[in-house]
Amino acid sequence: MKRLMLFAVLGAVLVAAGCQDQQTSQKENTNETKITENQTENQQAEQPKEEEAAVEEEPAEAKPDQHQKEADDVIGTIEKPVTVDNPDSIEVVVNKTRQFPDGWAPKDLVEPNVPFYFNEHLEKRKMRKEAAAALEELFAASEKDGMDLVAASGYRSEARQKQIYENNVATQGQEETDKVSSRPGRSEHQSGLAIDLTSAEMALALEETFINTDEGKWLADHAYEHGFIVRYPKGKTDITGYSYEPWHIRYVGKDLAKQIQEEGVTLEEHFQMKSDLKS
Ligand code: DAL
Ligand code: ZN
Repeated sequence: MKRLMLFAVLGAVLVAAGCQDQQTSQKENTNETKITENQTENQQAEQPKEEEAAVEEEPAEAKPDQHQKEADDVIGTIEKPVTVDNPDSIEVVVNKTRQFPDGWAPKDLVEPNVPFYFNEHLEKRKMRKEAAAALEELFAASEKDGMDLVAASGYRSEARQKQIYENNVATQGQEETDKVSSRPGRSEHQSGLAIDLTSAEMALALEETFINTDEGKWLADHAYEHGFIVRYPKGKTDITGYSYEPWHIRYVGKDLAKQIQEEGVTLEEHFQMKSDLKS
């Protein structure tokens, strides 16, 4: 009931602001960029200390995984990204230097039964079947703990990402856009394994301050128990290529999520992937 009332109020606010879904499924997605962009400079200024502190004497042992050979052999760059050969894998690593095959789309997209901030059956409601089931489990656990998470944006086709990216470039320029928005073919949202979550307390915004809310903290602490990782952690921009996004979670399966949580690393670090983020 509380959520319904909040949605009604927030819906009215969004409509008043000209942000209702039909008009602005694009606008809503670009919000992520705008909001994050404003915080990028400050965030980067405070990164070095954290990053130095985070560099501990981890043994440089090789991980026996499917990515290892590829990581050793091929180094993608922003201008010449590697095309992944395992787009269907729940462990696929897509980033600024690793892209999906042309026009690739998941074949098992479904709509998870969790609250979204809109009612329409838009593409962004979808996730791959396994990830959708895990998301339902995550929401059930969060609700048990008194959280009020709201889903914002899941699957995006390559074409949709192209629209978003190009719109952001047109309004903010390429340099700023590249800090927060993936180029088409390189967004995790295309995998059907990633989703952005927010909360009524955040007025449904995707902002760094999400981490200061109960929902944001809960997600950071518990997502891994349901097979998700926070994909773009704070202080890891030089590795992931993107600003901190406490709202963007990525399904990798419970075993891998637990390992990554315990290691306190990014997906790239876990797989010891090399890439050149200089463009
Ligand atoms: N905001 C993330 C990086 C994306 O655009 O996929
Ligand atoms: Zn996202």
